[in-house]
Amino acid sequence: MIEALKEIETRAKEEALVVRDAKAFEALKNKYLGRKGLFAFLTARISEVAPEERRAVGQEMNRVKQALEEIFSEYGKSLGASGAVYTKEIDTTMPGTYPAAGSLHPLTLVVQEVTSIFERLGFRAVDWFEAEDERHNFDALNIPTDHPARDSFDNFYLDDPVDGERNLLRSQTSTVQIRFMDWVKETKRRPPFKIIAPGKVYRPDATDATHSFMFHQIEGLYVDEDVSFAHLKGVLERFAKEFFGPETMTQFRPHFFPFTEPSAEMDVQWESRGWLEILGAGMVHPRVLRAVNIDPQRYSGFAFGMGVERMAMLKYGVKDIRQFFENDIRFLRQFA
Ligand code: PHE
Repeated sequence: MIEALKEIETRAKEEALVVRDAKAFEALKNKYLGRKGLFAFLTARISEVAPEERRAVGQEMNRVKQALEEIFSEYGKSLGASGAVYTKEIDTTMPGTYPAAGSLHPLTLVVQEVTSIFERLGFRAVDWFEAEDERHNFDALNIPTDHPARDSFDNFYLDDPVDGERNLLRSQTSTVQIRFMDWVKETKRRPPFKIIAPGKVYRPDATDATHSFMFHQIEGLYVDEDVSFAHLKGVLERFAKEFFGPETMTQFRPHFFPFTEPSAEMDVQWESRGWLEILGAGMVHPRVLRAVNIDPQRYSGFAFGMGVERMAMLKYGVKDIRQFFENDIRFLRQFA
């Protein structure tokens, strides 16, 4: 009997600690001290106790009854005051704990902003494979078999050539030009189309402040009748002013890419910084169009590819590309 009394005291204490609202508190109080509660149940059985033990049991009953009343009045009070948690141990004047709110990665922010600028210009975002074959990364892009860009030291070739073709992690998002135009052909569609394709690319460069073996590019492609270099310049200039600000100046320098002719690199100048290269571009080479069964007599197009880390570094003043991938929370928090 004495054991049973002690037991309900312990239990009442434990259960009172986890009660979270007034209703549960009332129910609990009733369970122990109510007319049909556990304490009443035990006291009703006092007649079963041997006469010589009744005195001790009676004393214990009084003690436990008092203890229970104390438990419930104590927790009842703190419940009334805070309406929340009812233990004496919790200091409600302490600062609370807040769930950590996440934020978008700076590279995600840049990709989203660039994509939305081009979407407003009528481009549609597409996403394609990171593991590619040589046709999509090189052949169809007019990159000859002996071109140094194919070197195994400059690419992550994957094991097990399939049908004599080696697969690789794409070294440029220009693969998506071919992927998309293949799809246009397969689905019996035809130009015009305007696409923007953000994604990861891989090159086995030694890591330093400006090189990473994985980085991001955003590819653009527009094919239609009578697309000219003037359209290319107009679109990219519009983009630069939207992304870097209305005062931004752009300049095109002649360059070479096997898959565009003529080709150029575009630099931007803004906020008193010097000329900074942000992308490569040009008119889609007729051989590229032919490789995907688009008639270069009838159609022309432009393409461009920009480096996302580069732009993020310029825009946010980040000095070391490695910061994007170290996941240091103090760095990432600044973009919240
Ligand atoms: N793929 C080129 C690079 O990685 C960039 C580019 C894309 C150039 C499209 C011209 C046209 O450097």
